Amino acid sequence: MRHSTTKFIYQLSEIKARYDELTSSIPARRIYYSVKSNPNPKILTFISQLGLEAEVSSLGELNAAINAGFDAAKIVYGGPGKTIGDIYSATEKGVIYFSLESISELEKICFVEKSTGKKLNRILRLLVLDNHGRLNMMMPDSKFGITLDEVREHIGNGDGDGVYGIHIYRGTQIKEAEFRASIIKTNEVVSEIESIIGYKLKYVNYGGGLEWPFMHSGKPILTLDKVEGILSGIESCFEFGRYLVASCGILETEILDIKKRNNYQILIVSAGINIINGISASGRLIRQQPEFHPPNNKSDEIMLPTAIYGPLCTPVDYLTLNTLLPQLYPGDVLRIYNCGAYAANTGLSNFLIREPAQEVFIE
Ligand SMILES: Cc1ncc(COP(=O)(O)O)c(C=O)c1O
Repeated sequence: MRHSTTKFIYQLSEIKARYDELTSSIPARRIYYSVKSNPNPKILTFISQLGLEAEVSSLGELNAAINAGFDAAKIVYGGPGKTIGDIYSATEKGVIYFSLESISELEKICFVEKSTGKKLNRILRLLVLDNHGRLNMMMPDSKFGITLDEVREHIGNGDGDGVYGIHIYRGTQIKEAEFRASIIKTNEVVSEIESIIGYKLKYVNYGGGLEWPFMHSGKPILTLDKVEGILSGIESCFEFGRYLVASCGILETEILDIKKRNNYQILIVSAGINIINGISASGRLIRQQPEFHPPNNKSDEIMLPTAIYGPLCTPVDYLTLNTLLPQLYPGDVLRIYNCGAYAANTGLSNFLIREPAQEVFIE
């Protein structure tokens, strides 16, 4: 059987370059890698060997991180909907840092602490209404986090040493200037929480979400000036996914079929929403318009209006309905850059049961 070319090609040196930029600009105690952005085992192992810690939001991600060598005792486990069973299983594997999304999660963690006798670090993920990213996680009806009012009502002053720290993740695709400005705003929330609970926090996770293009070329590299305002005398943390791994991946997809209609060339490519962009194709996120790069020997030719569809037997499986590309033929391979984050792991892989993409590494 002939396999079509649908390949994520990864270059680990790109991750090292992003790691160097982050660690030289951000004088924090700890930087987490957000496993959700790409849980490929070789990428996880590379990042754990660089010395970053992991941020996970499911037991599956936790297992992947531990298998790749991340230290469970430094992993932070977050995300909504944690059950007592999840918290219990994570503590069994050695996790002690939990980012809590609700007051009931706080109650669940107290329960697990009592039943296991283990001291767990309760980190309140706070909902503050000042989002700047392109994917808003801070709207008033958000499923994420605990509000300051809820902290006042349920935790109040003098609750022993119950709260270990806070976590504020404002959203993703945040511009550098906004990211830098958000540090001071988070520090204000640290003071506010300390005045509510009546004691000093030991931990602050400033979030991250620095921008990087998705399925488009471009490199918005962080400037070298040190990020200012990070609190000292406290475990100061940041978490990044796409900034670290987006640039390491290129997707190659083969043209399977071509039609000409109304002056349009209509391409059917091997990588549909089964392989990439499945989450936004569902309509829940802004639909992304990938930028396709033709083979090098065709880049000077006349450009034709082009629509690009995946091979799935459903009309929602399109990647772009209006772009310009030279005359192409079945068997030609198109490339999409910046496919290292939220790409290989966000296709609708079980939908119509097709061949998965390969994931390969180059020097
Ligand atoms: C809580 C949290 N932390 C970190 C991330 C990683 O964000 P990014 O990949 O934009 O850096 C996300 C992404 O959704 C998130 O929800």
